[in-house]
Amino acid sequence: MTVTVTPSQAATAGQERPHVARQRPRWAELREALQLRRPTLNPVERRLGTALSIGDLRTVAVRTTPRAVFDYVDGAADAELTVRRNRAAFAAVELIPEYLSPVDHPDLSTRVFGREISMPLIFAPTGYTRMMHHEGEAAVARVAARHGLPYTLSTVGTSTVEDVAAAAPGGEHWFQLYLTRNERLNAELLDRALAAGFTTVVLTVDTPVAARHLKDIRNGLTIPPSLTMRTLLGMARYPAWVLNKLTTAPITFASLSSITSHAIDAVRVADVVFEPTLSYGHLAWLRANWPHRLLVKGILSPRDARRAVEAGADGVIVSNHGGRQLDRTPATLTVLPEIRDELGSDATVILDSGVTHGQDVLAAMALGADAVMIGRAYLYGLMAGGERGVERAATILREEYSRSLQLLGLNSTAAIARHQVRMP
Ligand SMILES: Cc1cc2nc3c(=O)[nH]c(=O)nc-3n(C[C@H](O)[C@H](O)[C@H](O)COP(=O)(O)O)c2cc1C
Repeated sequence: MTVTVTPSQAATAGQERPHVARQRPRWAELREALQLRRPTLNPVERRLGTALSIGDLRTVAVRTTPRAVFDYVDGAADAELTVRRNRAAFAAVELIPEYLSPVDHPDLSTRVFGREISMPLIFAPTGYTRMMHHEGEAAVARVAARHGLPYTLSTVGTSTVEDVAAAAPGGEHWFQLYLTRNERLNAELLDRALAAGFTTVVLTVDTPVAARHLKDIRNGLTIPPSLTMRTLLGMARYPAWVLNKLTTAPITFASLSSITSHAIDAVRVADVVFEPTLSYGHLAWLRANWPHRLLVKGILSPRDARRAVEAGADGVIVSNHGGRQLDRTPATLTVLPEIRDELGSDATVILDSGVTHGQDVLAAMALGADAVMIGRAYLYGLMAGGERGVERAATILREEYSRSLQLLGLNSTAAIARHQVRMP
């Protein structure tokens, strides 16, 4: 049926005003609609409040930290190809959800070495942490303990095992070891870690020699930063960072005080970190001298993974050092499934390098990891706001992981299965 509307009818219809009941504006409703909030006066809280992702924390860190220090954390070896591959591999992962099963109380927890941790996340060892922010390792260890997650202290950390144990009593602490030719030092480090209650030793094997970080060379960065006119000028733009450095304990390679002649002795520290003679003989020595759990970090080949476990390691950390050692290595995510298949379900397999989102954690778990480690993700938080920034980083990752698990149709970490991810 066709209805014909005359021009005069159309004009009248357009002029008719619909009847809407009106009232006086009410202040309470207006306030709610405007969402008026008290301004955050604390600048750290304000900055962190704007950070919704690890990328946002990185942006804040750029503003709060001298360029040379930020680049030291953010940068990588040579052409920085591997660091980009790590991110690209996570970005390429496709998640395949399955719905219509309840996901109302996701259980994020998992077990590593038989102990429950609140989600599959571990804080990776990072050297010189008090250079990034004066609160340093103690702050990171406290956040880890609050979240029920392990924290790994580096041999070249700026706090001792005793400092970390005192800062975060009740936390689970791991110790990352660089083995040296100095057997007395090796034994001393293990004894102290044992006495301080550390549960796991992580032997890093991907540093036979130093890699070249071009940004650090160009920035004239020395570890710790030396006060040349150039660095001084660069740092003058970050008065809070400088003031904090000048008014807190000097940065030292805390665990190495017995071999460094004075507080800072970068040349000898490089000798400790980079050991070209490191071999399976060292691993055998370590196995014989460390009574608890032992992981080998820096594994990228299934053959190496097998040999490490045959030499007595309880598992491996699939890592390319966040792209900071050999450039052009594969992304860790792409070699993970082969390494898991090689080791079967008995050995512990942890993955790091490039994890910046809860969905990265999910992808790694689906492809065979028992947990992941984060390095830069928490250092961006540390640089952005000390302990509060690390707390923000941990919370962001936890929320992303929880929400993604639910959106994938899963109610627990234990339910993650390989068929739910696709890697082109
Ligand atoms: C600033 C910095 C310092 C690091 N220092 C150490 C170290 O002392 N020992 C070690 O085994 N790994 C060290 N790493 C590597 C981390 O443990 C980890 O493998 C890496 O950060 C993972 O990649 P991601 O930063 O993309 O998470 C360091 C990484 C960074 C960013």
